[in-house]
Amino acid sequence: MKGFGKRLLTGATALAAGAGISMGGSGMDIERQAFGRTTDGTAVEIYALTNARGLRARIMTYGATVVSLEVPDRTGKTGDIVLGYEALEDYIKNSPYFGSIVGRYGNRIAKAGFELDGKAYKLAANNGENHLHGGIKGFDKVVWKAEPVREENAVAVRFNYLSRDGEEGYPGNLTVSVVYSLSNDNELNISYKATTDKATPVNLTHHSYFNLAGEGGVLGHELMISADAYTPVDPGLIPTGEIRPVTGTPFDFTSPHTIGERIARVEGGYDHNFVLRGGGRALDLAARVVDPKSGRTMEIWTTEPGVQFYSGNFLDGTISGKGGRVYTKHAGFCLETQHFPDSPNKPGFPSTILRPGRVYKSLTVHKFSTK
Ligand code: GLA
Repeated sequence: MKGFGKRLLTGATALAAGAGISMGGSGMDIERQAFGRTTDGTAVEIYALTNARGLRARIMTYGATVVSLEVPDRTGKTGDIVLGYEALEDYIKNSPYFGSIVGRYGNRIAKAGFELDGKAYKLAANNGENHLHGGIKGFDKVVWKAEPVREENAVAVRFNYLSRDGEEGYPGNLTVSVVYSLSNDNELNISYKATTDKATPVNLTHHSYFNLAGEGGVLGHELMISADAYTPVDPGLIPTGEIRPVTGTPFDFTSPHTIGERIARVEGGYDHNFVLRGGGRALDLAARVVDPKSGRTMEIWTTEPGVQFYSGNFLDGTISGKGGRVYTKHAGFCLETQHFPDSPNKPGFPSTILRPGRVYKSLTVHKFSTK
């Protein structure tokens, strides 16, 4: 999308609407523009982050959503590698979490409930009897407050949101901040922070549907996932609690396989949580995806113990996205870094409970290159 307002050369971080900051001739740039209004009249803005090497991410305050992500291919030609819409109203009408931040709890909580410190909590059931991606109005459907952030080697925007005590059934006022930062090393970093005044589950993730070719489907993309195990699920996609080795199964991506190679052997397609080798102890490589045609390569590094690999199974051709492209099954894939689904009901899984006085922190890095 063209037509951003005029740029101001300034060191200040407070921008007038339609203005931007160029960072002292470094080639990096942040621009801000109005992006329409929600149905209740709240103004939505979009930030365009451009690094010195031609990568550009546009992120709006509705859902803290990545609307476009332009990345060069091996010939230097840029292409938009995420699915989504051109207009805000389409996101509001019908979006399967395209590009957004998901919370308060990414993924499913069985029977939309959990017990914590002896008290039972009832959450919004929005996926059959289960709770999915934060409920009926999750973090993907709220308007965040945004401010540009100055960083040494990157352009960044911080998104803030206060999730009130009782929202979608969750306990505690949760103060959340998410910083998207685009570095000159061609990394899109997402760093999350949250604090609470009552104990609550927290599991934040990012839900971009990637298509490194920028067109067609993703079954020919080569995928590696650093996971020796995954969490098998019941028919409602709730983990059984088992941690099962991937060896000898279509879930073994420890060496690269195309997404399509064994997908017919996975009922419904991939929509599973992988148990990462890194174990959530430090920033570690979670996955690498290569599109052999364009050469575009994305590595995902994370501090999270898990990643949900979703192969766009529910895309069914009813959505026309950017440029009128029809999104058919497997038009994009998601790699949602996270704690495991249904952790609040699975004592054997790493805990997702945040307590007052503690800080939830999580970092995921998307590193782009070409092959
Ligand atoms: C996640 C879920 C999927 C689906 C998509 C969005 O990946 O695990 O089942 O809900 O989000 O449609």
